[in-house]
Amino acid sequence: MPKWTHKHLLDLQEMSRDDIALILETAKSFKEVSQREVKKVPALRGKTVALLFAEPSTRTRMSFELAAKRLSADTLSIQAAASSLVKGETLLDTALNIQAMNVDLVVVRHSASGAPQIIANGTQMAVVNAGDGCRSHPTQGLLDIFTMNERIGKLEGIKVAIVGDILHSRVARSNIAGLTRMGAHVVVCGPGTLIPMGIEAMGVQVTTRIAEALKDADVVMALRMQKERQQEAYLPTVSEYVREFCITPDRLRYAKPNAIVMHPGPTNRGVEIAAEVADGPQSVILDQVTNGIAVRMAVLYLLLGRKAKV
Ligand code: CP
Repeated sequence: MPKWTHKHLLDLQEMSRDDIALILETAKSFKEVSQREVKKVPALRGKTVALLFAEPSTRTRMSFELAAKRLSADTLSIQAAASSLVKGETLLDTALNIQAMNVDLVVVRHSASGAPQIIANGTQMAVVNAGDGCRSHPTQGLLDIFTMNERIGKLEGIKVAIVGDILHSRVARSNIAGLTRMGAHVVVCGPGTLIPMGIEAMGVQVTTRIAEALKDADVVMALRMQKERQQEAYLPTVSEYVREFCITPDRLRYAKPNAIVMHPGPTNRGVEIAAEVADGPQSVILDQVTNGIAVRMAVLYLLLGRKAKV
């Protein structure tokens, strides 16, 4: 079994192939816990996990909270809008106050890229990045990779097409970092204005042609248009995006017949993904959500409690 050496989980770029394999293996054993009648193990009894969310979240916040609770950790949730951050307290001062309450690990979501790193540098707590700006969303990347491995049975050599607003997507960056590390072939596709310059350096194929991106793909991942991060007009209209890039049943036929369809959520049905595809037999969108708990249990356990008995 490879050794776990990390204090924080800030970015999948910092994780080796062995690190990712260890997280996936650990998550596999934790998935079973959520299927028990009593969905709880004592692995993190006595530990405290804080959830500091300065941006909206449904899936990530709820699944981190459930993951911590299923490991028997105490949890405390801080919504930025209802905290003293709105009175001008800095993020680091807020984090130092959380630390003063003897919290062991803080899960951070923030609109500013690098915010979790500031807390990691300025406190003694373990830090997990739950999404920072356009930069990184490592546990989303891990749960997506876990779901692909579970469904397809391997990662090496599979073709993953990521379609949509790549420019503003921390999910795309984390998936690219993790998938290329695990030997998958990643193709990114979207309007030219929504593909970051130089993204080829991350080891991906780039195309603006949806048929080329989806051809023989094992995985089709649709991404949401990140309007909250778009300061200018990247597209003439949403209709133009839909006409060219929406994942419809017809377009899905370019992929392998047993290809899986993924979306990190929240979805805009009829924009980046047709409702028939989101709800169709190839969709694993809700499996991603289920797997998010197991993957986040694995991450919390590896960072805080791997000597404890599961
Ligand atoms: N995928 C994801 O990060 O969803 P939330 O914003 O709801 O957490």
